[in-house]
Amino acid sequence: MIEFFNVSMVYPGDKVALSEISLRIPRGQFVVLAGKSGAGKSTFLRLIYRAEVPSRGQILVNGRNVASLPAKKVPFLRRTMGIVFQDFSLIERKTVFENVTFLPHILGVDARTRRELAERTLKRVGLLDHIDAYPAELSGGEQQRVAIARAIVNGPDLVLADEPTGNLDPDLSREIMRLFEEIHLEGTTIVLASHDPEAQKEFGQRLLVLDHGRLVADRPLRVMETEAAVQG
Ligand SMILES: Nc1ncnc2c1ncn2[C@@H]1O[C@H](COP(=O)(O)OP(=O)(O)O)[C@@H](O)[C@H]1O
Ligand SMILES: [Mg+2]
Repeated sequence: MIEFFNVSMVYPGDKVALSEISLRIPRGQFVVLAGKSGAGKSTFLRLIYRAEVPSRGQILVNGRNVASLPAKKVPFLRRTMGIVFQDFSLIERKTVFENVTFLPHILGVDARTRRELAERTLKRVGLLDHIDAYPAELSGGEQQRVAIARAIVNGPDLVLADEPTGNLDPDLSREIMRLFEEIHLEGTTIVLASHDPEAQKEFGQRLLVLDHGRLVADRPLRVMETEAAVQG
């Protein structure tokens, strides 16, 4: 589903953010991307959703080379993905309903269908009661759940999350990580950047570690229960 071939990213000023990364993330995998601040995690994700173009190498998403994608096709690429950020990035003057159905609205989905979509998705993240609230009326954990609802409302097969628990205390972080785990168990591919060792220990299937733009570790995180059953 995602393939990196010798990908390097050098920002203006000769700042090397990623150095010769090659890897393959199969469909349905839950990948935790770890590394200290400045290691290149956000750049890795930004390349996948084409917020940046790599200096060298190729990135394929579902077989399509995203680096050579014409700018006008980028919105179509993004619609196949859900993206979650550390700071939630909700629109303050819009309600939870409007935030969650922002993309369906742009795509011309009618009001009744949008309402149904929002209700179904907010139920999944446990926030149906807050459908008509404004972001400022919600706690940080709730705002992040709204952002996750917005990311999954279109049923993307890939969810990218950049330090989604970075602003939350440990209990809320685990709640949010459990939510990603559930989304993963429904078949969604997840690439989640985190510098939180707790998150890396308990959640996800595969750990990638970046250090100064280099991939220094790539290992399974734990055997999933289903795999353990198959292996006896
Ligand atoms: N737009 C940019 N221009 C120049 N340097 C950048 C830019 N974005 C990130 N960097 C640098 O690239 C390196 C990797 O950054 P980033 O991908 O944000 O790492 P992380 O998300 O792991 O903290 C850092 O040294 C950072 O300062
Ligand atoms: Mg970052």
